Amino acid sequence: MNHTAPRRLFVTTALPYANGNFHIGHIMEYIQADTWVRFQRMQGHEVHFVGADDAHGAPIMIAAEKAGITPQQFVANIAAGRKPYLDGFHIAFDNWHSTDGPENHQLAQDIYRALKANGLITTKTIEQFFDPEKQMFLPDRFIKGTCPKCNAKDQYGDSCESCGAVYAPTELKDPYSALSGATPVMKQSEHHFFALSDPRCAEFLQTWTHADGHLQPEVLNKIKEWFAKDAEGNGGLGDWDISRDAPYFGIEIPDAPGKYFYVWLDAPIGYLASLKNYFDKGGPKAACGETRSYDEFVADPATEQYHFIGKDITYFHTLFWPAMLHFSGRKTPNAVFVHGFLTVNNGEKMSKSRGTGLDPLKYLSLGMNPEWLRYYIAAKLNGKNEDVDFNSADFMARVNADLVGKFINIASRSAGFISKRFGGQLGAMSADGQALVATLAAEGTAIAACYDSRDYARALREVMLLADKVNAYVDQNKPWELAKKEGMDARLQDVCTTCLQAFRLLSLYLKPVLPALVARVEGFLAVTPMTFADAAATLAAGHVIGNYEHLMQRVDIKQLDALFEAPAQAEQATAATDTKAASKQKANPAAAQPATASADGQPGGEALAPTIGIDDFAKVDLRIAKIVNCEAVEGSTKLLRLTLDVGETDETGQPKTRNVFSGIASMYQPEQLVGLLTVMVANLAPRKMKFGISEGMVLAASHGDEKANPGIFVLTPWPGATPGMRIH
Ligand code: MSP
Ligand code: ZN
Repeated sequence: MNHTAPRRLFVTTALPYANGNFHIGHIMEYIQADTWVRFQRMQGHEVHFVGADDAHGAPIMIAAEKAGITPQQFVANIAAGRKPYLDGFHIAFDNWHSTDGPENHQLAQDIYRALKANGLITTKTIEQFFDPEKQMFLPDRFIKGTCPKCNAKDQYGDSCESCGAVYAPTELKDPYSALSGATPVMKQSEHHFFALSDPRCAEFLQTWTHADGHLQPEVLNKIKEWFAKDAEGNGGLGDWDISRDAPYFGIEIPDAPGKYFYVWLDAPIGYLASLKNYFDKGGPKAACGETRSYDEFVADPATEQYHFIGKDITYFHTLFWPAMLHFSGRKTPNAVFVHGFLTVNNGEKMSKSRGTGLDPLKYLSLGMNPEWLRYYIAAKLNGKNEDVDFNSADFMARVNADLVGKFINIASRSAGFISKRFGGQLGAMSADGQALVATLAAEGTAIAACYDSRDYARALREVMLLADKVNAYVDQNKPWELAKKEGMDARLQDVCTTCLQAFRLLSLYLKPVLPALVARVEGFLAVTPMTFADAAATLAAGHVIGNYEHLMQRVDIKQLDALFEAPAQAEQATAATDTKAASKQKANPAAAQPATASADGQPGGEALAPTIGIDDFAKVDLRIAKIVNCEAVEGSTKLLRLTLDVGETDETGQPKTRNVFSGIASMYQPEQLVGLLTVMVANLAPRKMKFGISEGMVLAASHGDEKANPGIFVLTPWPGATPGMRIH
């Protein structure tokens, strides 16, 4: 780590398909990249970290059509839901854009023209399945039929889920279009190809992939297989089909009417488009005084470019993408960092688009600390492309025993004495304390090297070993006993000062992983934002710290139980056959099922109420409420007693809560609701009920025909809302 001048880095994560919300696999990738970005900034480097939605392609076009909206509207809806995930897990992209933005249209066409001018675009007529009803060529995923190997029916066009065979769609027996059901016909079309078989490409990619630092060794090994030709000279890189026929949601190919770029051609160009969008908006200037334009920035040979991706998209990023950049006269990536897949509780690999198991928003809405997950994921990532498993027991152990038990504890065992007994003033450290802190400071360079190579697991192991040393010092010196002894004040201040000096260093080392927590630490230690250069320094004797407030709770097993509770869908199946039994079951609040429209076509089974003006609506004061307690009501099978915090205080300034009865006992266990945010009518006149006074009403959804569509679903706001906020 010998960089004197600040480096200039451009960092991306893979661009998620805009056909669904983020799942925990995406969040893992973003945590990995965000941690690295934060680390590089703590080294004093200038970093621009951008993402975007991958908007194009047939599946999104078809999904939008099904939803009855334009693909543009469809991807805009998905984009609108991104923020709560990113903010919720402290993932701080500098810019988030879309591959359908004007910058990407322009850049993709520019790059294509440059490749063409270089003689690397060829055309060839190919035959493909065509849906005569929909009047469109069918992507493999939308052709189904009988498996040619095992005769399983309704298999996809590329592989059989029953026997695992892989084949071409033309090999399917009795093929049909998954869009219209029509029998597809073979039709010819001229396609455009990126001539990767050109010897110039092979030569360039051999050099690029083997160059030091571009790829992890395990990734390079895989790539060697892709390059390999057999004895007859077959295999190796083939030309890449980069065009699709209209109708297609994508970018038009210049001078080729009715032809669009295949989504994977324009998707990585979206990295540049998002960066350009960020520069054109003046983002880098505002963030770090970067005065150059996008064009100047990307043309600078000193600019470094890094991509974080999952192993499933290695081929695109390590072959197609560098070749596209190089042969269009652009800089190539400095490295592509490939990670493995996240599984949950030894679960099978999650579906790429759906994801299963651990819903990130549910995690947040249960009040689980996002930095627990950041810490846990970091503790599992070692910079290789191995898969990673989220395991509940392991999660609890690492967070409770290591993060809270070893690290947070150091502050909670020492800060109080400094505040109460010494007016917040640190003292000087005697020799033993100085030696301990010096040991910690000496590891800074090694820990930084671990972060730089994305071996966060090792960085955190080192930090925890250091925390062990500090805890041994605490146990040896027992500040709580010193505090009771006469004449030991100086030693007490000395010991607690040493603990806090050590805690400061450990916090610095954990800062890339725990940004929000360490910001609070910086606040309470009264220090400016720490960088790695600060590892060499200590706080001066006489430095005054602020009041210590508890920094982090332990994970409660109940939270994990709630997180992984089976979704309501499984129970819904029972409901159809046995409504009585099903209504006794406790459904999951976060996984409400769409109710079916009733026969008379009324939405949700009841006619809309007569129109009202905005003034009528304004009379209803809806507020965010936190369910601080919830109990069963003795003598009632229907009601739960909720204690709600709506941000109110009484005359003396003490927090005041409300008592509300709600008829939701058939759906929720009281403990499921504790800690959740919901919405209440806050200005409803209090109502005297058999069991007490109800001071408001909680909002919940149910179907007009409750027999056919049982269930009542409490509303919860997106993370970020806080008790007392009004709903307008
Ligand atoms: N749209 C493409 C990428 C285009 S990049 C120019 C795509 N999108 S994706 O939404 O399917 O995946 C986005 C990223 O999430 C990829 O890096 C992918 O590997 C990663 N992951 C998807 N599922 C994952 C896990 N279960 N675990 C870890 N990462 C996973 O591919
Ligand atoms: Zn089969």
